[in-house]
This record gives sequence, structure tokens and C-alpha cells, in this order.
Amino acid sequence: MSTILITGGAGFIGTNFILDWVKNTDENIVNLDKLTYAGNLHNLVSLTNNPQHIFVQGDICDSERISTLLERYQPRAIIHMAAESHVDRSIHGPEYFIQTNITGTFRLLEAARHYWGDLSVSRKENFRFLHVSTDEVFGTLTKDAPAFTENHCFQPNSPYSASKASSDCLVRAYHHTYGLPVLTTHCSNNYGAYQFPEKLIPLMIVNALAGKPLPVYGDGQQIRDWLYVNDHCQAIRVVLEKGQPGETYNIGGWNEKSNLEIIHTICDVLQQFQQKDYRALITHVADRPGHDRRYAINAHKIERELGWRPLETFETGIRKTIQWYLENHDWVAEVQSGDYRKWVEINYTGRSQ
Ligand code: NAD
Ligand code: DAU
Repeated sequence: MSTILITGGAGFIGTNFILDWVKNTDENIVNLDKLTYAGNLHNLVSLTNNPQHIFVQGDICDSERISTLLERYQPRAIIHMAAESHVDRSIHGPEYFIQTNITGTFRLLEAARHYWGDLSVSRKENFRFLHVSTDEVFGTLTKDAPAFTENHCFQPNSPYSASKASSDCLVRAYHHTYGLPVLTTHCSNNYGAYQFPEKLIPLMIVNALAGKPLPVYGDGQQIRDWLYVNDHCQAIRVVLEKGQPGETYNIGGWNEKSNLEIIHTICDVLQQFQQKDYRALITHVADRPGHDRRYAINAHKIERELGWRPLETFETGIRKTIQWYLENHDWVAEVQSGDYRKWVEINYTGRSQ
């Protein structure tokens, strides 16, 4: 049976990717995840008796574990998503980001290189290592500057984006030096079901529903390009099947919005559901240090070369997302247990208004 291996499949994008994968293909998917605070196996409970999904708890820094897995399951591709992913956490504690995002990616590449080197000629040719990266590696843009293309130089500004940029460089080097057939994607801000409520959109939804303040960093005029997670998952499948080894592809939503616009929309949609004035909860707090002002993705290459374009508009995607959080109180309550409360205290207590 043909198989792929995904890392970080119990996180936000990984969960959505696996659920879509099982819906859209017959191929097995092995999911290697350490289950950090961001990984949640309950997300995949609907697959408990489905042999197509094979879960393995483990760390991408553990070379032996990865090599054993590759030998055992003989995947035709690796989709590498495992990472420490939250910018604010990287500011408070960068060490984990260096370990997982740089060392972890290096160890995974090394194991993949040895595994790939021993494959038969045809399996070697068809093998792919798809690295999921971010638009944050390109740094920040002024309001009117053209959107990032794949050729934009790397200018990462946070420990998170610096660690992702380093991992991208390693992936690139493994292609140029060893010929490993790699693909790299740079995507913009995702939103949708199962996103941990440390990120802007789910944080605003769960705080609003709990009647808590909605903390806007600085003036709230920072701009992000919002991509519905299921569109992103489809784009990754397209890149995996049709992408050219050694190439990089931007994935974006064509959906630039300021943080305040996002928060206002969430408040207004929630008000239609719950008849309360959520905008009154908006509170400006101290800005994020080194806060990037604007990200924007030029996603023409993936459309032109591989025929992918996002399907969801922000208006439809945000409604589906809010509906999901309204219908999944238990999930929200579970992820907001002990450690989450500690994080909220670390990040928000002491941010002056
Ligand atoms: P997430 O934080 O929700 O999930 C990360 C997953 O990786 C978790 O399940 C966690 O347990 C696992 N993990 C962490 N360290 C690990 C390790 N050492 N070994 C094995 N597993 C480990 O992240 P996400 O939002 O789903 O992002 C997935 C990928 O996409 C990341 O590489 C991130 O940099 C990238 N990305 C995310 C976004 C976004 O908006 N969420 C945008 C661009 C790029
Ligand atoms: O651009 C892609 C990146 O998007 C990914 O690589 C990262 O993994 C992902 O976390 C995300 O990074 P951001 O820093 O853009 O996302 P976040 O949701 O943390 O913040 C979005 C914007 O909202 C940012 O300008 C900071 C602001 N913000 C965030 C939080 C958590 C607030 O104003 N208040 C908040 O409480």
C-alpha cells in the first residue's frame, strides 16, 4: 500500500490536512508528532478505527526514530509541518524554536537523505520531501510595496521566522548538494477549525464568547493575508503531485486585511449569532516587540504553473470558522486547561493598555 509520512499532523494545519487526505485519497498517512502543547490527538478521534491513519508519537530531533519509521513504512513522500509556530512564544522562549525548527528539520533531512539514497531508481525519482514554510521568512512590507514573490530575499525579524528561514536554507542545500527532491511552500496566515486559541482569530473568538477583553497589539493596523486552512491543504496536495523538485511556491489567500478589520468582522458575525455587542470588548495593549507591519503573498506562480487558486472568500471562511468554535465548546474548554492559562498570563499580564 502506498504511504506518505507527515510530521506535526496533530497540530492545526496537520489535522486539517489529514482529515482532507483521508476524505480525498486511499493512500495511508503516517503521522509523526511529539504532541507538544499544540498537538492534540483528540482532533483525529474520528480516525481511531481507520487503518489509513497511523499515529506515532515522536520527536523530529530523534534521528533513530525517524530512520526506523522510514524503513518500516517506506513512504513515497514526507510532508514536513512539525514546528514551533507561535511568534509570541518565540519572543518569550526562542530555544525550543531553534531545537525543533532548525535541528529537527536537519535531522529529518539527514534521515530522508539516507532513506532516499537506498531506494530503487524509479522510487528515488518519484520521492518528494515537501517542506511547509511561511511568508514570515521574507520579513515585513510597507503599505504599498508589492507582495512577496518566491524570489523576495529572506529578512526574518522574529526568532520564529529566523528559525523557519534557517530550515528553508537547509532544505534548499539538501537539494543542491545531494539532489534530494525537495519542494518548499511559503504560505500566509491560516485560519479555520482546530486552531489553537493562542493565534489571533481563535483567541478573539474564544475571548469574545467568554466576555473577556480582545487584546489588540499596538494600533491594530498590521496587515496579514488570510488563507482558509482547507484551501492551504488542497494547495499542498497539488504541490506534492505537480510541483517541480527544487522549486518554491507561495500560497496565499488574496485576502489582505488589518487586524482591526478582522476583529471587527468577528465581533459583527458573533453579534448576529448571539445578539451581544462584542466590539465593546476591544482593548489596545502594548505592541509585540519587532512586530512585522505587513505580509502579502503574490500567489501567481502556483496558479500559473500548477493551476491552484483558493476557493474560499474571507466572508465565507470566517463564518464557517466561527460556527465551528460555537459548536465545539468541549474542544475549546479542553485546550484552555492549565498550560494555556499559564501562557495567557505570561503573554498578556503586564501589557499596558
Ligand atoms: P501548530 O503549532 O498548530 O502545530 C505544530 C505541530 O507540530 C503540533 O502538533 C506539535 O505537537 C508538533 N511538533 C512540535 N514540535 C515537534 C517535534 N519536535 N517533533 C514532532 N512534532 C512536533 O502549527 P500549525 O499552525 O499547524 O503550522 C504547521 C506548519 O505550518 C508549521 O511548520 C508552521 O511554521 C507552518 N505555517 C503555519 C501558518 C499558520 O498560519 N498556522 C502559516 C504559515 C506556515
Ligand atoms: O504569516 C504566517 C504566520 O502566521 C505563520 O508562519 C505563523 O506560524 C502563524 O502563527 C502566523 O503568525 P502571526 O504572528 O501573523 O499570527 P498571530 O495569529 O500570532 O497574529 C496575527 C496578527 O495579530 C499579528 O499582527 C499580531 C496580532 N495579534 C495577535 C494576538 C495573538 C494581536 O493583535 N493580538 C493578539 O492577542
